[in-house]
Amino acid sequence: MNNNGGPVANQAPAGYVPVASVGDIPPGWVLRTSASGRDIAVSHVDGEFYALDNSCSHAGGPLAPNHLSPACTLECPWHNAVFDARTGEVVAGPARKGVKTYPVHVGGGTIYVSVGIPKPAPVAAGSPPGAAPAG
Ligand code: FES
Repeated sequence: MNNNGGPVANQAPAGYVPVASVGDIPPGWVLRTSASGRDIAVSHVDGEFYALDNSCSHAGGPLAPNHLSPACTLECPWHNAVFDARTGEVVAGPARKGVKTYPVHVGGGTIYVSVGIPKPAPVAAGSPPGAAPAG
């Protein structure tokens, strides 16, 4: 609340766009939303929020809506690849390449995501240096 009794206007960092309210995503849940035209999966892990591309790196299956496992992973409904919701890394195939993650900012009860500069998808362990990740 500000001095006038109204909500505090949140100033998200430049490049971040609002994607959901904190209350929209209970702990252990993955919400499908969008940011600047991109389909995004936002996960709630122990009070922290993480954003991934909502497209499985195997064949494009939707990763949200979904629920998280106790190990903070989510499973693609198409062929059961498993990804770490926090890092986008592959935990179990058939996907071999991780999914892109995006920076998240939370303020004023709102979740913001920056899709301007996606982090590179993680490469599976054991890939030779410089090898192009296979999907
Ligand atoms: S599309 Fe996700 S495992 Fe195949």
